[in-house]
Amino acid sequence: MNSATPTVTLVQPDDWHIHLRDGPALARTVNDAAKQFGRVIVMPNLLPPVTNTVQAQQYRQRIIEALDLQLTLDPLMVLYLTDNTSADTVRQAKQSGFVHAAKLYPAGATTHSDSGVTDIKNIYPALEEMQKNGLVFSIHGEITDSHVDIFDREEKFIDQILTPLVSDFPELKIVFEHITTQQAVDFVQSANDNIAATITIHHLLYNRNHLLAGGIRPHYYCLPILKRELHQKSLIQAATSGNKKFFIGTDSAPHPQHSKESACGCAGAYTAFAAIELYAEAFDLANAIDKLEGFASFYGADFYQLPRNTQLITLQKKTWQAPSHFDMSDDKLIPLRAQQDILWSLID
Ligand code: NCD
Ligand code: ZN
Repeated sequence: MNSATPTVTLVQPDDWHIHLRDGPALARTVNDAAKQFGRVIVMPNLLPPVTNTVQAQQYRQRIIEALDLQLTLDPLMVLYLTDNTSADTVRQAKQSGFVHAAKLYPAGATTHSDSGVTDIKNIYPALEEMQKNGLVFSIHGEITDSHVDIFDREEKFIDQILTPLVSDFPELKIVFEHITTQQAVDFVQSANDNIAATITIHHLLYNRNHLLAGGIRPHYYCLPILKRELHQKSLIQAATSGNKKFFIGTDSAPHPQHSKESACGCAGAYTAFAAIELYAEAFDLANAIDKLEGFASFYGADFYQLPRNTQLITLQKKTWQAPSHFDMSDDKLIPLRAQQDILWSLID
């Protein structure tokens, strides 16, 4: 290695929000994640969704079977909350030891959210139990009212749902997932220590101009949608501040090329193949590479009350080019940054 090349060594990071999908997709998603992460919080929005501990156990097994021999990964499972999730279901999840969170998808908010919650009051019995037993409440925070502008849906969710919820459940551990606005940053910063947030790579590196200026670029379309640059700056500030309430969650979400490049394209960006490298790039651009380890390797584990990892990984500031695509069943998966430079690389 060239001694002039900047490097950074970190405790192995985890990913506190990832979509691995199922079936043949697992061979790609699971091994991409395992190359860098020790643990991943596995989002449950399969078709049909993962709504109970038995399904979570079976899904976990399929993930582990998809791992290449030389790799390891600890999949931390999540239940998908529906209008019918009972306190008993939540109790079993907590007792399992491998389910670590339950996720709110407001019905209609995002990819595969049709079975989601239609009224937050419907899950109050489940939330009472979670508050008692410490299972983490993971939230997709967007209002689904079709009259609310798509760029305002997170902000309205804070006012209409999250603020009253936090006062009804002051002891509930909440992760406000993939936050995208200054309002969300402010909310989390001023909330009690039971409230934390994940921040994705793409919301740190991009804003809505990348999605819409000079042409529609469907691979930048994800939910919550990319916002104005001022929000991007606020997220960068939060992620690089060293505040333990903000931690890594890639929201890496693969969709086949034909579903993304379509008259009605799906939401989701695939970043797992270069996740920690892209975060390193974002932190370095903000002159805060020294803050990456806390964000990527410590604060999420602390929030979930799990031990920090002990293995190390090393990154160097060396450019490589992202591939044009990966094969995905009988289609292609176009990753974020396809055929463009990535400025940091992971050393094996
Ligand atoms: C996710 C997916 O494709 O599963 N898509 C996305 O745009 N983030 C779902 C989600 O987390 O909202
Ligand atoms: Zn997600």
